Amino acid sequence: MAFRVHHSMQNSLWFLSSSRFYSTIQSQRVHSRNQKYFCKKSLSSSSFSKGVRYCSCNATTSNTDANVSHSNAEAFVLTTPLYYVNAPPHMGSAYTTIAADAIARFQRLLRKKVILITGTDEHGEKIASAAAANGSSPREHCDSVSQAYKLLWRDLDIAYDKFIRTTDSKHEALVKEFYSKVLANGDIYRADYEGLYCVNCEEYKDEKELLENNCCPMHLKPCVRRKEDNYFFALSKYQKRLEDTLTENPDFVQPSFRLNEVQGWVKSGLRDFSISRASVDWGIAVPNDDKQTIYVWFDALLGYISALLDDKEQPNLQSAISSGWPASLHLIGKDILRFHAVYWPAMLMSAGLSLPKMVFGHGFLTKDGLKMGKSLGNTLEPTDLVHRFGSDAVRYFFLKEVEFGSDGDYSEDRFINIINAHLANTIGNLLNRTLGLLKKNCQSTLAIDSAIAAEGNALKDTVEKLVEKARLHYENLELSAACEAVLEIGNAGNVYIDGQAPWSLFKKGGSAFEIAAKDLVIVLEALRIIAIALYPITPRLCLRIYTQLGYSEDQFNAVTWNDTKWGGLKRGQVMAQPNPVFGRIELETEANNAGVSTKKASKKMNKMPKTQKAVEA
Ligand code: MSP
Repeated sequence: MAFRVHHSMQNSLWFLSSSRFYSTIQSQRVHSRNQKYFCKKSLSSSSFSKGVRYCSCNATTSNTDANVSHSNAEAFVLTTPLYYVNAPPHMGSAYTTIAADAIARFQRLLRKKVILITGTDEHGEKIASAAAANGSSPREHCDSVSQAYKLLWRDLDIAYDKFIRTTDSKHEALVKEFYSKVLANGDIYRADYEGLYCVNCEEYKDEKELLENNCCPMHLKPCVRRKEDNYFFALSKYQKRLEDTLTENPDFVQPSFRLNEVQGWVKSGLRDFSISRASVDWGIAVPNDDKQTIYVWFDALLGYISALLDDKEQPNLQSAISSGWPASLHLIGKDILRFHAVYWPAMLMSAGLSLPKMVFGHGFLTKDGLKMGKSLGNTLEPTDLVHRFGSDAVRYFFLKEVEFGSDGDYSEDRFINIINAHLANTIGNLLNRTLGLLKKNCQSTLAIDSAIAAEGNALKDTVEKLVEKARLHYENLELSAACEAVLEIGNAGNVYIDGQAPWSLFKKGGSAFEIAAKDLVIVLEALRIIAIALYPITPRLCLRIYTQLGYSEDQFNAVTWNDTKWGGLKRGQVMAQPNPVFGRIELETEANNAGVSTKKASKKMNKMPKTQKAVEA
């Protein structure tokens, strides 16, 4: 038998307080069952008004203005998973955070009061073993890996607002308070437990799910048989309410195809799960029983709430909740969907707290078809990619080329081709050649307002349609399609300039010269709009485009989505000296020590402006 639970009656708090539990259920039914847990609000917003974006972190390109009052702004709280610190971050762990940052930046453009939460999950057996293997104490080990995550987020331009560590004292206080609430609600009891445990998943497994030799299908390592006396969470009591919640709120789990999977798990019958460990010291002690520590998931999930606390605030649930709970969106990988879409909502229901509005389970980055991961050791080093190609290239590639929700494979050739074609050619080169023509023929000065220049012009209509398309895709978390819509603006701009051939018109003089000058304004206005619409994905590149168009960094930082309306560029605006905004990645053939020639990709920096060299270095 893979799994066995024996109730130890004297400790079975669940039975002792069952009458209270049922009366709670009844009263919740009367108060409109799910309404209590869900604020039924879509993720979208159509209110675009002018203002400054807000982010309280200190990432290099964040649009920080902590002095701006956002008291009336709609809140948008989103989370990444809290990453295990058993090993340094890899590209798979960076992926969710890049996506979260792009969504957060988009929501800031809509003038929402965004709180982007990320952090590290630092307790448990897996972390303690990793520390021991390194010859360091768990605390030292966690400090160092957690810091590596922060450095990577800086390299990738992640403008997070909160970074929570599950070893923070405020977090510990909140976990204990939450545990006590669930206990008081009669949902925790003590029992013996026997089963097959995967340390990498930090989860007891069902024997049916396992491969040969009891191997975990995710980590391909054998699970170990364990028997323990633990505290349990009475998940099974929430079966009906979870079923109803999922039926009544079909958007709760996204993409929609993952909802079926979650409904399947719930329908197949929910089993109570153990929420403490007797054999693990590195964790938060169970209140009133310091021989047991709280199970990592019952600890880490609470990080989404404890992150909301300011360091100076009293660490209690009420303060944290009033600072932004419930979250609008939990972004996670598909492997941890069960914890977020089944366990977590039931835990929140038990504690009488609201449910997050949406859980989005994305796919995996794979290498040779296998999930890239620390346990399998087939990872891609994100810092190396950023140092070689720049953060914009890394962000763009993974968000454009991997459909958000599905799996995606990485190959360096594809990476280079896509980045050169889209960022260096379609966008970068279009800007550079247009500015070159403007410099040569119009002293880098716009001859006419872009709104007047484009009256009755088909390119303007195309851009307006595409930018609206991009907005809708961003709203729906279709990040790849949003990139595609913006890229289409660039394609349309290239087709337009090639068709109009302003270089010939300038030579003809007279009215042809005027048409050419007007065409350049039209193309540059399209590029200005690209700089805003692609900003969530490639913030550094977009700033460079904006400054090439003669704006200051402050002006760029004040931009909102409303500024994607056609007509921003005005007559008399002077453009900067044309400088390539994005260097091509070149394959250099080098002779190595053995005299064999090898190909090495690097970014062509010689034509890059000084500032870009600095930020890309
Ligand atoms: N600590 C838990 C999460 C607790 S949240 C309260 C955890 N940590 S993890 O480090 O193992 O994984 C964190 C996230 O990284 C998960 O969403 C996981 O799906 C994601 N990824 C890890 N490898 C990945 C890929 N190869 N591809 C895409 N995402 C992957 O689980």
